[in-house]
Amino acid sequence: MNSSTPGIEPELHARRAASFGAKAAAYAAHRPDYPEKALAWGLAGANRPPERVLDLGAGTGKVSEGLVALGVTVTAVEPDAQMLEELAKALPSVTPLIGTAERIPLADESVDAVVIGQAFHWFDLDLAYPEIARVLRPGGVVAALWNHDDESTGWLAEFNSLIKSSMSRRWLSDYESLPEHEAFEPFEKETFDHKQPRTAESLVETIATHSHLLVAPEAERAAKLRAAREFLDRNPETASGEFDLPLTTTVFRTRRRS
Ligand SMILES: C[S@@+](CC[C@H](N)C(=O)[O-])C[C@H]1O[C@@H](n2cnc3c(N)ncnc32)[C@H](O)[C@@H]1O
Repeated sequence: MNSSTPGIEPELHARRAASFGAKAAAYAAHRPDYPEKALAWGLAGANRPPERVLDLGAGTGKVSEGLVALGVTVTAVEPDAQMLEELAKALPSVTPLIGTAERIPLADESVDAVVIGQAFHWFDLDLAYPEIARVLRPGGVVAALWNHDDESTGWLAEFNSLIKSSMSRRWLSDYESLPEHEAFEPFEKETFDHKQPRTAESLVETIATHSHLLVAPEAERAAKLRAAREFLDRNPETASGEFDLPLTTTVFRTRRRS
């Protein structure tokens, strides 16, 4: 959020927001999906069941995939051509469009829901809120989701503080709510347990797709990934074979006022 995210400089914000395409295939392979119940809770915020759904900041299609499984018609909007290419390869039933939250390439009131996975914090809300309100029909729902590590698992808190880089900043889903806008009702929030099967090797692949490490100087990135692997190799819970990475999915939802 250029205009309202505290603690991140505009230049770093822009670099991190645009960093994912360079590792699009790794992103598709190693980032977690979203629990069906979290997506369903988001959609249930609409005044009637959504049929036409926009996945905004769609990346390689993690949200789109879950939406397709729920039986809705999905349009994916994403600024990065390499990310969108991965999505189009994996999900032929989804309509892929290049665009941004600040300039959505859709007609007025053309969708019943806008779902945003791990991308809302990149939007310039002064422009994105009016754009989302324009493409969403009255009574339609906006649902913003984040997957984040459940740090009540001791080793994970230690691991995350170890991999913080000079490019790390505060994480938006710590917030109790999201900034309000006159076009939308107050946000509701819910959290869902989630997990991702990982090995020491594949968890290192996952963190290598985090934007702070994508934009970190090469020597720092390499040192962090090495330290991560060494930690996982000596930590009893992760040293051998597959383990479940404990995640929490946080969902904020709001309805467009009539
Ligand atoms: C962390 S990825 C999330 C991708 C996908 N939604 C997911 O849940 O896996 C963030 C995505 O937001 C996109 N993005 C960055 N700035 C954006 C903007 N202003 N409008 C729309 N998407 C944006 C990036 O290109 C990237 O694909």
